[in-house]
Formats: sequence, structure tokens, C-alpha cells
Amino acid sequence: MTTTILFAANAGLWQTYRTPLGQALAEPGIDAHLSDAADPAAVDFIVYAPLSPLQDFAPFTRLRAVLSLWAGVERVVGNPTLTVPLCRMVDPALTEGMVEWVTGHVLRHHLGMDRHIRNPSREWDHTCPPLARERPVAMLGMGALGTACAEALVRLNFPVTGWSRTPRAHAAIPMLHGEAGLEQALRSASIVVTLLPRTPDTENLLDARRLAWMRIGSVILNPGRGALIDDAALIAALDAGRIAHATLDVFRTEPLPIDHPFWVHRCVTVTPHVAAATRAPSASRAIVENIRRAIAGEPLLHLVDRARGY
Ligand SMILES: NC(=O)c1ccc[n+]([C@@H]2O[C@H](COP(=O)([O-])OP(=O)(O)OC[C@H]3O[C@@H](n4cnc5c(N)ncnc54)[C@H](OP(=O)(O)O)[C@@H]3O)[C@@H](O)[C@H]2O)c1
Repeated sequence: MTTTILFAANAGLWQTYRTPLGQALAEPGIDAHLSDAADPAAVDFIVYAPLSPLQDFAPFTRLRAVLSLWAGVERVVGNPTLTVPLCRMVDPALTEGMVEWVTGHVLRHHLGMDRHIRNPSREWDHTCPPLARERPVAMLGMGALGTACAEALVRLNFPVTGWSRTPRAHAAIPMLHGEAGLEQALRSASIVVTLLPRTPDTENLLDARRLAWMRIGSVILNPGRGALIDDAALIAALDAGRIAHATLDVFRTEPLPIDHPFWVHRCVTVTPHVAAATRAPSASRAIVENIRRAIAGEPLLHLVDRARGY
């Protein structure tokens, strides 16, 4: 029987995805009708991105699952019309991209690269950075992305501590959880990376009180979600010299408004939500694997838990 798949992401993506998705569907031999427009009553699966004009899932009476092209699902997880399983994107290429962004920016701050890249006064500054083994890193969020980044940093000898919602164990990384664990992680790190989803529990997680737990001169990297950090509290901590630098990839409003103080703050680096792009060939394989599983009656991968919000 033919499976009907509706591609309902934001405009422009259909051209990027139609061929890779078609190729990925052909690999396991799935007989599919793939389209960016279909009779809702005939649709089995929706390939989805949260900025899609499709916000009412009620007419999709035969729908079996919604497969997100995004890892972060905060814009769709609370949609009351969505009653079928929702799967988020976990894709090796996306993870690889995030590992590169995080290790690159950690190494930038660890090695103090900026002072050599821009050195107008031609200063012959011999100061050597400590070794990575002397630069503790806290990874807030130890899911698909946080764990891969933490493991890459451990391979470079950084002592990494992980923090997650539930108690977890990792063979090479001490793990913490809960409020006391967060305090311990923040107090012990020189570099803090936030790779958490946006949920009601993580909104403004790094507020003034918790930013004050961070070591003087420490650095924040946020490739998770803008709402994890209280913007005003962060700027105050940077102005006070308490936090030395923040490298931010995600923001409450994107694109970051032209008059936002982050753009001009000398201790902030803005990257325009480029830490980890979803790449069509590998993302298509991840989507199709879940379609194959659903058809075969196997459990879906990377199911979103609606109650916890990620
Ligand atoms: N900038 C970019 O380009 C980009 C690209 C992709 C994704 N992202 C962001 O990265 C986020 C993480 O992605 P992922 O695939 O790693 O997600 P994931 O596999 O779902 O992992 C989420 C991690 O966050 C932890 N967590 C969730 N709520 C928490 C809380 N209240 N307190 C403490 N820990 C909490 C989870 O704890 P448990 O282990 O206990 O469940 C888990 O370790 C996404 O949600 C998205 O916002 C950004």
C-alpha cells in the first residue's frame, strides 16, 4: 500500500528535501507518495518544521506520526491539535556540526586566540594558556548533542562535568543533576556550555542568581536556546567583569534585532543560529528510518515526551 507523506516545513525547504527524501525512501523500498500538498485525510506522516504554516493537525485523521526536521521542538510540542507521536531530529551530521561549533569556540576561549588574531599594538605577549586538562568545562544538557560535545572535549583532555534533568551515569564524565548539581557544575567550571531544550523548566535557567555562581572570568557558550539565559542578567554579569565572554548562537528573537545590546557588547560574540544545521541527506535518512519503523510496527526513535516538553 502506498504511504502518503506530506512535507510541511517552511517555504523553500521543499526544493532542498524532495530529492534526498525520495532517495532515502527508495533505499528500504518504501512505496511512498511524497508531496508538499496533499488531502489531509490521506496523509500518513508529516515531515515538519515548526515555522510551517501548518498549525492545525486536526484534519489529518489518518496521521501516524509527525517527524520534526528540528532537534528543538518547543514551538510544536504544546500544539493541542497534535495527538499522534512527535519525533525530534537526531542526525549524525547535525551532531557533528554541533561538536565542531562547540569545540571550536571552547578552543578559541581556552587558547585566548582573539588577542593574537587582532593585535593592533603588535604586543609580543608570551602568556601561555593552561593546558586543557586545567580548564574545567560544564556541559548543561547531556542529551544527543551535549553528550557528543562533552565526549569530544574529554578527548581533548578538558575535565568535563555533565548536568542533566534526571540522574545519569557516564563512564568518562562525572554527572550531576538537580539544583545542587547545577550550583556545583557552575561553581567548578571555567567554560559553561548550555545544550538544553527550551521548556518551562529551563526558561531563564541562567538568571542573575545562578550566573553569580559562575567563576569570575568564566565564559558561556549557548548553542541551546536563547531563553535559557536571562539576557539582562547576562549583560550585567559581563559589564561587571564577572563573566568574561558569552558566545551566543541562539536568541529569544531571531534574527537577533539590529538594536539588541548583544550586537555591540565587546564581550559577546553573536553567531546567527549556525551551530548545527539540519543537513538534508542525513536528516532525510533519519526521517525515513522512523517511517520504516512505523510501517514495520517497530518503536519510533527520538520520541518527544509531551509532558516534559522535549
Ligand atoms: N544552535 C543550533 O543550531 C541547534 C541545533 C540543534 C539543537 N539545538 C538545541 O539543542 C538542544 C539539545 O538537543 P539534544 O538533541 O541534545 O536534546 P536531548 O537529546 O533531548 O537532550 C536534552 C538534555 O537536556 C537535559 N534537560 C532537559 N530539561 C532539563 C532540565 N530542566 N534540567 C536539567 N537538564 C535538562 C536532558 O536531561 P535528561 O538526560 O535527564 O533527559 C538531556 O540531557 C535542542 O533542544 C535545541 O534547543 C540547537
